[in-house]
Amino acid sequence: MDKLIIEGGQPLYGSIAISGAKNAALPLMASTLLAPGWHTLHNVPDLRDTRTMLTLLEILGARWERNGPTLRINTDQMTGVEAPYELVKTMRASVLVLGPLLSRCGFARVSLPGGCAIGARPINYHLLGFEKLGVSTQLEQGYVEARVQEGGMRGSTVYFDLPSVTGTENLLMASVVARGETIIKNAAREPEVGNLIDMLIAMGADIAGKGTDLLIVRGVECLHAGEATIIPDRIETGTYMIAVAAAGGMVTLTNCNPEDVPALADKLALCGVDIRNSSNSITVSCPEDQGESRCRLRSTDITTLPFPGFPTDLQAQFMALMVQGDSTSIIHETIFENRFMHVPELKRMGADIAIEGSRAIVRGVGRDVLNGAPVMATDLRASASLVIAGLAATGRTEVSRIYHLERGYEDMAGKLQRLGARVNVIRA
Ligand code: EPU
Repeated sequence: MDKLIIEGGQPLYGSIAISGAKNAALPLMASTLLAPGWHTLHNVPDLRDTRTMLTLLEILGARWERNGPTLRINTDQMTGVEAPYELVKTMRASVLVLGPLLSRCGFARVSLPGGCAIGARPINYHLLGFEKLGVSTQLEQGYVEARVQEGGMRGSTVYFDLPSVTGTENLLMASVVARGETIIKNAAREPEVGNLIDMLIAMGADIAGKGTDLLIVRGVECLHAGEATIIPDRIETGTYMIAVAAAGGMVTLTNCNPEDVPALADKLALCGVDIRNSSNSITVSCPEDQGESRCRLRSTDITTLPFPGFPTDLQAQFMALMVQGDSTSIIHETIFENRFMHVPELKRMGADIAIEGSRAIVRGVGRDVLNGAPVMATDLRASASLVIAGLAATGRTEVSRIYHLERGYEDMAGKLQRLGARVNVIRA
């Protein structure tokens, strides 16, 4: 089993570039199924998940070529309409092909994702939205079969009970060629949705309301190949911001968008961390304090919320920071029901955390109390939280199952090494 070995206690100094966002790259890649031709995507991160999406697109008939971060995808020949269980079970975002396949082929068969390490994660909103557009859906042997009914898809008004990110994306991709107007109410406002809207508009779609929770799609006759640039990964940005706060030092993150991490920047400032922004970079420093190598950390509460609230995808990492706080921090997870899998592992490193329902009560133990340990996580962001704890801890931490990290962080070990961290990947 591949491992990441961390010799902790080393402050981080220097500069690294943030990669393109995984959660923007995946829907934009899926959107290439909407129209034939060569589509071009820039700033695409090379991750396990983006590779899985390429495999899925290949199964559906696409060809692609990659030149560094630029990916060209050709979808002239559609030879399949099915996302098989083997792929969907490794990457839930495979469901993002449902919308484009319905638009392009009128039929799609996608394995139902089932639960995952962070919660049940149903796709009922996606299916209810499709049904509003005139799609019939049924479950056959673990697969969702969706078929556009006679007369084609027609615009409708869809209200989401919760602002689902991939639900909004799937519905956008289904409605761009539906007849008439589709209104999506309580749509997700995440920057990744905005990035998809940019790509769809580049393909000829007519969509208003980007960045708001009310999206209006006026169906067009046909679309053409598009070109877009993947936005910087705000979760990768936030992960490194927290890592500097935890390990100490001063780091500049380039190629990122400070406007995409508003809640985290605010919380880190409350903790006593210094954040300076330019238009596309963030400098994070954790000043020395009274002879200590890192500033005292003021404990702060967080509640995860849809954008622009505090992202659930940074909750685990922020908890790894709060275990070093000076008092108690309450971490309230409101998006997913099972996203505290990192807690037992953090406790093995010396953290003091109690879980009460959807809240974690973190009693800060101060700096220099965490101890390295062999740890293992069951999902991507929980693994990132253990890496942060390992960077801040005294001694050696071994993070197993790093394939989780490789799903969503491009060259994490290399980037941390460039900042002076003592980290190494051991391939078994
Ligand atoms: N929900 C439903 N029914 C649905 C869809 C969602 O009940 O049909 C609920 C979910 O259970 C959850 C809430 O609505 O309670 C919001 O979930 P959402 O649909 O927004 O999540 P998602 O689209 O499946 C994306 C990201 C996740 C990120 C969440 C929340 C992608 C590919 N994935 O998932 O990213 O945590 O939004 O921001 O965009 C990650 O990168 O590690 C990751 C898990």
